[in-house]
Amino acid sequence: MSFEIPESIKIGSQFLHPLLMMFLFGLSFYALYLGIKIKRTRQADKETRKELIKGNFKERHYQVGSIFLALVVLGTVGAMTVTYINNGKLFVGPHLIAGLGMMSMVAISTSAVPYMQKGNKFARLVHVGLNMNMLLIFAWQAVTGIQILLKIISKL
Ligand code: HEM
Ligand code: HEM
Repeated sequence: MSFEIPESIKIGSQFLHPLLMMFLFGLSFYALYLGIKIKRTRQADKETRKELIKGNFKERHYQVGSIFLALVVLGTVGAMTVTYINNGKLFVGPHLIAGLGMMSMVAISTSAVPYMQKGNKFARLVHVGLNMNMLLIFAWQAVTGIQILLKIISKL
């Protein structure tokens, strides 16, 4: 027995991923802002640190980061599912490969967190290094993603 997904859902579902990723692009800059505040707090002198700690940047960054991690995984796996449903195959091109790379980078950077919390400098380097590069790839994903989106729209 086969189950056919209605055409409207097949077409509509292609717009979910671009919308979600645009939102996450914005969210990642908010995470970056909070991350920079964590660093400032860590490096500040006693008086300034007292003030900065009130901003609760560590907790806020951890929360925003967790949401980012969960949604980026869903968004990536979801896009592959939707692409497969609509085309019967995946397009093994730069957008797919870079997307899988980005997903791996956030997963690995997050695994550094318990060690960062113990003050491990290498873990901090891994976290910040991976995430900064991930943001660069994200900007490039936005460009290739919009190209794919325009192609989909032109075929409607
Ligand atoms: C979206 C991209 C992300 C960027 C650009 C980013 C950036 C940063 C930066 C700059 C710091 C400060 C490091 C320092 O003190 O010098 C930091 C710390 C931290 N990040 Fe991220 N981060 C990102 C994602 C995440 C995610 C996904 C998680 C976890 C789910 C996370 C959890 C943490 C925690 C808990 C700390 C504080 C660790 C500590 O010193 O106790 N971050 N991050
Ligand atoms: C920032 C803006 C982005 C836009 C506008 C965009 C747009 C698109 C579009 C239109 C598709 C075709 C399939 C579909 O609509 O579901 C697609 C596929 C895909 N996207 Fe994105 N994307 C963006 C960012 C990202 C990011 C950040 C990732 C990963 C972290 C990613 C990973 C993927 C993957 C894995 C596919 C499936 C490709 C395939 O299997 O052929 N995209 N994207």
